[in-house]
Order: sequence, then C-alpha cells, then structure tokens
Amino acid sequence: MALSQPWTAPLAGPLIPGSPYAVVVLQEGYSRGLPDGSSQADGTVSLVLGPHLTLVDTGGPWGRERLLASLARQGVSPGDIRHVVCTHGHSDHVGNLNLFPRADLTVGTDFSQPGGRYLPTGLRQGAPFLLDAGRLEVLPTPGHTGHDVSLLVRGTALGDVLLAGDLFEREADEGEWQRLSEAPGRQAESRARALGLADVIVPGHGPPFRILVPAVHIQATGQRGCCGNRCGMFLSVLFAAVGLLGAGYALAVSVPGLVHGPLCKYLPANGTLSEWGRPFQTGEGALDFSEESYLFDTRRWDTCQEPPGVTQFNVILFSLILGAGGVEAALCFIQVFNGLLGCLCGTCNEEKTPPAPQTYN
Ligand SMILES: [Fe+2]
Repeated sequence: MALSQPWTAPLAGPLIPGSPYAVVVLQEGYSRGLPDGSSQADGTVSLVLGPHLTLVDTGGPWGRERLLASLARQGVSPGDIRHVVCTHGHSDHVGNLNLFPRADLTVGTDFSQPGGRYLPTGLRQGAPFLLDAGRLEVLPTPGHTGHDVSLLVRGTALGDVLLAGDLFEREADEGEWQRLSEAPGRQAESRARALGLADVIVPGHGPPFRILVPAVHIQATGQRGCCGNRCGMFLSVLFAAVGLLGAGYALAVSVPGLVHGPLCKYLPANGTLSEWGRPFQTGEGALDFSEESYLFDTRRWDTCQEPPGVTQFNVILFSLILGAGGVEAALCFIQVFNGLLGCLCGTCNEEKTPPAPQTYN
C-alpha cells in the first residue's frame, strides 16, 4: 500500500480522462527489496491516448507479452504507436523498444526516427521538446540519470499530468529516491520544478498521485534565482505568522482559564447552600499569579463539588494548551526570524535564459 504525505493524494484508478489527450497507466511499476539484498522491479508503462498516440516507457523485456496484452485491451497494436518516450535508459524502462520499429523514439535526451535517423532536440541543452505544442511536451528532468526526461500532458480532466519515470520512485519516496540517483542535487531541482507544474505525477515505480496546494511552497523554495529564494522564504514567513496567531490565541485562552479556575458547584465560605460559580476567581477577573492562587495549593482543589474532578481536569487541560501554544509560538518565532533573514539576505544565483523549445515535425 502506498504511503501518503500531506501535500499529495493517491489517484483512484489508472485512467486519467481528457481531451484531446487522456492517460492510461497500462502497468503500475513496482520495486521491492528481497531478503538476499537484491531487489525486484519493473517500471510503470503509460499510454497517452490522443492525436499523437504516445507510449511512455516500455517496461522490462520480461514483460513483453503483458505489454502486448495491455495494449490490445486499449484496442491499440504496436504499429499504431506514433511515438515512444523512454524516460531514461534503464532496462525496466526500455526493455520492449523493439516492439515499435515504426515509431519515433525519444529515449532520454536522444530522438530518433525509423531506420536510425537521429535528430537534435535541444533536450540536452535543457529545452523542452514539443510533440504537440501546448499539449504534449517532453521535458528534461535530469538527476536519476544525467539524461532523464518526463512527458507533460497538459489539460486532462485532472489538470497537467507529468509522466515522470524515476524522477519520482513513488508517492512519499523521500529518503528512497536519493539512494538511486546519479545526481541528487539536480534531481531535487527537477523534482521541485515538477511539483510546481504538475497536478498529477505518474512515478516510475508506484501508482499515480495528485499534487495538492501546499506543494506551491515546496516549488517556490526550490526555485533557483533571486525571486525563487526570496519569495519562498517570504511565503514561509507568512505561514509562520499564521502559526504565531494560532499560538497567541491558545495562550490567550489557556492563561485566564488556568488562573480563574473552572466553573463548578461549591459551598461559599459564608453560605449554607452550594451554588454554581468560580470559587478560585479573585477580584474583578484579574489574573492572580501570587502564592495565594489555588494553583499552588492542591488542598483547595476539593472546593469544587460538581462536576467531580473538574479542578484537576481544568488544570491539566489548560496546562497542555499553554505548553503546546508556548512551543508553537517559539518555533514559529524562530521561523519568522529565519524567513526574514532569508528574505533580506537570500542568495542571488544568476538565472540563465532558458533555451528555446524545439518542435516535433
Ligand atoms: Fe531507473
């Protein structure tokens, strides 16, 4: 079962409807460790249905018959596929390329046409390769290997879908993808960019998942350049400020609640009948922190007759809220300070002009 994380959510099924392009995951990739230290894996295989019929990754050669069967279930034969995009050159992603000799092939940053004619695309220089401008784009997403690419399908019913290969192993793969990465720094940048532009990610070895709103922050802090760094830090200051407000409210509620004590039924000092009120509240509701306070004299806690144990409950509850509010306030204050520092003094990396996209003909 896939783990989840607060800023992503699993998809209900393998079909992502859309027009003119829909995506169907033909084979959900997996990987699992074996007791002898080896691992068993196969890559995700997806079909992009639409005017430019495209297969993304082909799985391992051991899954040849399964791939043919799953294509047939979509009413597609290998000869119908116009383009095969292999996200990178590992065997569990390129294993069945020879089923598609009549298709154009993008394998990592290489692009070739039937007969072995290789053409430049600009992918190696960092430019997108537009298979269907504005709708279907191969993007360079290096890191897992130096030549990894992903296919972005724009405008499906679930938004923009990124078929990402092993840029993402699976949902919630933090701590795992780094172990398999040739260049973790570059991959972290590619992942941050992906989280900012995709609504759904189809990973290389797990089920597809949706990206939720908070990923905007991850993307912003992961961007390069002045605005990327400083805007990200500014955003973190705003989030921390909201946290500070919450902490302030918790403190404002818990301190009077603790000092004034509970509302309960008690016997007044000069009375004969029990009545409801706040026996520990002094004066006009002023906060009493002196040694006279009931908080420092547990023998007085029995003053409240009903509800039973209400004084202890009140002290424990508001002490917990006070403690949690105090910790939250301290952490948020540190983050506000840290964020402001990053906002004012953040690094300014020179942003290179991105190369122009290349169009598929
Ligand atoms: Fe791989």
